[in-house]
Formats: sequence, C-alpha cells, structure tokens
Amino acid sequence: MSQILEATPFELIGGEARVAELVQRFYDIMDSDPVAAGVRKAHTEDLSSAREKLRLFLTGWMGGPALYVEKYGHPMLRARHLPFRIDERMRDEWLYCMYKAMEQMNLETALREHLEQAFWRTADFMRNAQ
Ligand code: HEM
Repeated sequence: MSQILEATPFELIGGEARVAELVQRFYDIMDSDPVAAGVRKAHTEDLSSAREKLRLFLTGWMGGPALYVEKYGHPMLRARHLPFRIDERMRDEWLYCMYKAMEQMNLETALREHLEQAFWRTADFMRNAQ
C-alpha cells in the first residue's frame, strides 16, 4: 500500500498502453459476457467511441495526462450518465466487467484492490436509481 502512496495508479499499471489494454478488455467482456447483457444494451451498437472516451478519461483519472479534459473539457460524468437508468444491478454489471478485465491483466494485488475500491465509488456515484 505504501507503494500506492508514492506512485500514481497510472505509473503502477504501466502507462498509456496498459490503460488502453484495460479498456479494450473491459469492453470486450461487456460485448461478449451474458452477465453484462444489461449494461451492454445501454450502449450503442458500435462501441468504438465509448472505448476511446473511456481510455482518455481513465488515463487522467489514474493520474496520467488529462487527455479527456484536453479534448472534451470537464467530464461532468454524473450528468453525462443521467440519460441512462443506472441501478445497483447496472452498476454491478459495469463493475463485473472492470474487475474481470483487471483480473486478466494480472495486476499487483495492492494496485488491483485500490482500483477496485476507486471504481466501486465512482460507479456508485453514477447510480441514479435503486
Ligand atoms: C455504473 C454503471 C455505468 C453505466 C451503466 C455506464 C454507461 C455508460 C454509457 C451507456 C455510456 C455512453 C457510451 C456510448 O454509447 O457512447 C457511457 C459513457 C461513458 N462512461 Fe459510463 N457507465 C457506467 C459507469 C462508468 C464509470 C464508473 C466510469 C468511469 C470510471 C464511466 C466513464 C464513462 C465515460 C468517460 C464515458 C464517455 C462520456 C462522454 O464523453 O460521452 N462510466 N457510460
């Protein structure tokens, strides 16, 4: 855990290419795993824009360059998610994909646990229904 305090998650995960890999895996899981069918349906058929935006966002969110903000301005993440009904089940389907993607990447335990908690808080913040 002390390592987490000395370096950003962005550095610990291994930089931009590894964040890109995480996002690719995340959406590949969402696109194919029946557990995530609900959250997949909330997205458009073509996931390429969602993939690109999440990659840019997470790069900054993890402490790397603020690529999303440079391109699109303040993310206003909660407001942007209001058009979608996000209840606990949707939140958990989203998190299922992210936790599984992290598992596939064999992240060091302290980093994985740190990110799991941070993703949980962010996903729960996006919830706008029971
Ligand atoms: C809690 C469950 C969540 C659901 C159901 C959800 C759903 C969605 C949907 C449907 C879109 C639109 C994608 C498209 O088709 O273009 C979207 C966009 C996005 N989501 Fe989520 N999301 C969730 C959680 C999160 C979390 C936890 C993060 C960040 C850690 C996140 C980051 C983003 C970003 C950056 C975009 C692109 C925003 C834009 O510029 O338009 N989402 N999300």
